[in-house]
Amino acid sequence: METANLKEATNYNYGLEKIFKDAQDFLPINGTDYVELYVGNAKQAAHFYKTAFGFQSYAYAGLETGMRDRTSYVLKQDKITLVLTTPLTSKSPIAEHIKKHGDGIKVIALWVDDARKSYAETVKRGATPYFEPMVEQDGDGEVVISGIQTYGETVHIFVERKNYKGIFLPGYEKWESEYNPTSCGLKYIDHMVGNVELGAMNKWAKFYAETMGFANLVTFDDKDISTEYTALMSKVMTNGNGRIKFPINEPAMGLKKSQIEEYLDFYEGAGCQHIAVATDDIVFTITEMRKRGVEFLFVPGSYYDTVADRVGDITEDLNLLKSLGIMVDRDEEGYLLQIFTKPVEDRPTLFFEIIQRKGAKSFGKGNFKALFESIEAEQARRGTL
Ligand code: FE2
Repeated sequence: METANLKEATNYNYGLEKIFKDAQDFLPINGTDYVELYVGNAKQAAHFYKTAFGFQSYAYAGLETGMRDRTSYVLKQDKITLVLTTPLTSKSPIAEHIKKHGDGIKVIALWVDDARKSYAETVKRGATPYFEPMVEQDGDGEVVISGIQTYGETVHIFVERKNYKGIFLPGYEKWESEYNPTSCGLKYIDHMVGNVELGAMNKWAKFYAETMGFANLVTFDDKDISTEYTALMSKVMTNGNGRIKFPINEPAMGLKKSQIEEYLDFYEGAGCQHIAVATDDIVFTITEMRKRGVEFLFVPGSYYDTVADRVGDITEDLNLLKSLGIMVDRDEEGYLLQIFTKPVEDRPTLFFEIIQRKGAKSFGKGNFKALFESIEAEQARRGTL
């Protein structure tokens, strides 16, 4: 199997060259601020992410803090902030979101220095507003936030927190818990992938280019990402400093139903498919997560028969990687280790990727086939292939 070749794989054959060339950093982003999931039972979801993923209790907002319509638990692990929000009444738009999509990602919040400017610049370039800039304050200072819509019902919130020294956002209090499982070594968000409808990938790639000033890092077509049965296409969009990477997937024609179509059917629309989180010790991380009950996609033992030929020398013990189901891929700059969880809710929608980069900046193209065959095996079990 060939190794990923970014230069070769990068193609601009969708008439977007000029846009990408013109992409400029009018929207400086410091990094991902937080990711918020709307879930049916935030108290129980928080327990899951602490126990299984090694997140720590961080902040809380609910009836006790003056919040009347929702409860939010904020969890942290190194640079990753996860917010789990549940509605307190059926009238809440959050309840509507959950009814339609099940548990899923509503907000991908971006940390900026100027939330007013971020809003003005993106809306001027065609973004649909979610909410106008507003100031929230408490005794610890003020935060300016604003929001725009992206694919499906997902939104980006710009968070300007340079004048705030409180725990998370105004309205939240520190969450002290007596239950504090140790970290699994997850460090930061590497990329977050959106699944969009057939034919919509270019529209959303264009949105990130024109409206947010992102560039197209790499494109995968259905020849790169297909098995005997199913296919997909993907464009990886990145911001100017490379800290934010959003691959956008759409289904491609295949003999059977692609995993992207399965997602769109069960999420009832476009949405975030997976969060890739980085670790600097994937063997430790996956050993911990497996012990704590996280389920991963099965990698057939035969995958490891050819992996050494494909990726050459690596420092990790291949037998150990095999026993944990960790996959390996190499590009010109180094190699990477990666593994994918099964969906983390009953609908086959959102899942996580755990990735350790050892020089490689690509996305594991050499693993696509094995990965998609593994997903197809799961789809077949669900009767959705
Ligand atoms: Fe990924």
